[in-house]
Amino acid sequence: MSLSDKIKQTSQEIFEEVKANRRHLHQHPELSFQEFETQKFVRAALEKIGIEDVKDIAGTGLIAEIKGKEANTALTCLRADLDALPIQEKNTTEYTSCNAGIMHACGHDVHTSSLLGAAKILHQLKDEFTGTVRLIFQPGEEKLPGGASMVIKEGGLANPTPKSIIGQHVMPELEAGKIGFRKGIYMASTDEIYITVKGKGGHGAMPHQNIDPIVIASHLIVNLQQVVSRWAKPDMPTVLSFGKIIGNGATNVIPDEVTLEGTFRTFNEEWRMAAHDKIKSLCKNLVEGMGGKVEVDIRVGYPFLKNDEKLTGLLQAAAAEYMGASNIVDLDMRTTAEDFAFYTHVVPGCFYRLGVGNAAKSISAPVHNPHFDIDEDALKHSTGLMAWLAINSLK
Ligand code: NI
Repeated sequence: MSLSDKIKQTSQEIFEEVKANRRHLHQHPELSFQEFETQKFVRAALEKIGIEDVKDIAGTGLIAEIKGKEANTALTCLRADLDALPIQEKNTTEYTSCNAGIMHACGHDVHTSSLLGAAKILHQLKDEFTGTVRLIFQPGEEKLPGGASMVIKEGGLANPTPKSIIGQHVMPELEAGKIGFRKGIYMASTDEIYITVKGKGGHGAMPHQNIDPIVIASHLIVNLQQVVSRWAKPDMPTVLSFGKIIGNGATNVIPDEVTLEGTFRTFNEEWRMAAHDKIKSLCKNLVEGMGGKVEVDIRVGYPFLKNDEKLTGLLQAAAAEYMGASNIVDLDMRTTAEDFAFYTHVVPGCFYRLGVGNAAKSISAPVHNPHFDIDEDALKHSTGLMAWLAINSLK
């Protein structure tokens, strides 16, 4: 029997166990950097498989290795994320979240149970591949500074440095059975912008006695769109969106200040930093020109995510061999962000998508939605595929 057939057979055998693990995690979600019970659950599962020397990393994360033949010849990493979101689940299933206001609405329960399944397959077949697979279960993907940045700081990609890192993420827009890849730049960098426009409040009937921060903030929002429409190169996708404005006056009261909160996203580090400077200088010049004062706080988030061309090409071909070429799709670039991006700036990385939707079963809600769910049939191949990709990346 070929190695891929052995992997397929094992992934069928462990399907019910992977499904049970996923359901347990789904019922017991924990917020970013508070994954205490999840960490215990994953540790117990790894030890039950027979994986030794499981270490804690980044607080509530775990790291371990599975050594194949000639373990020192090559090293690759498989990564899953552990955290859930502050969302009240609105699904009623056998496995609905038991934790009020917390939900695995981004599929990290799927990523964790799939990686546990892949670990079991790799451990069982460790005499059949060459090299070492490092397993990274990281906390806090959903919250700055991102668990990935902490894993890197604590040496998760060192001693020795792996030749590659592979991550899987659910995609409800893609039918279960399909797998998506994109070579090169894939997801955006993300930064949080907090602006306070300070004026001088007073009676709305006598604007000449005040410095109106509402009018200044209005000009500011419109003018800041020049960052996107005039200053970004036309071939550089850039997004600047403000989702929160607070100017707490009244029909006849001009407030003292207005606060704005927004997000800035793009795909190039140099332009990203230049854009921050442009945003700050435009805020200062425009607001001071209108008589006000301004404070700008830009909190730097995740970098853009780049899939290594060579590694991704190799894994896409390996996935086609495993899943059938007709089940492999090319993905579009997207302006959402993911902390896996940190890893891709340290070692060659590949972040691919697992189809989990099913139109016939009406499973289509997007991630971060209280109705998000998956077609669990995707767990039949999510484990074996991860193991297969890891083995291929070691060649
Ligand atoms: Ni996610």
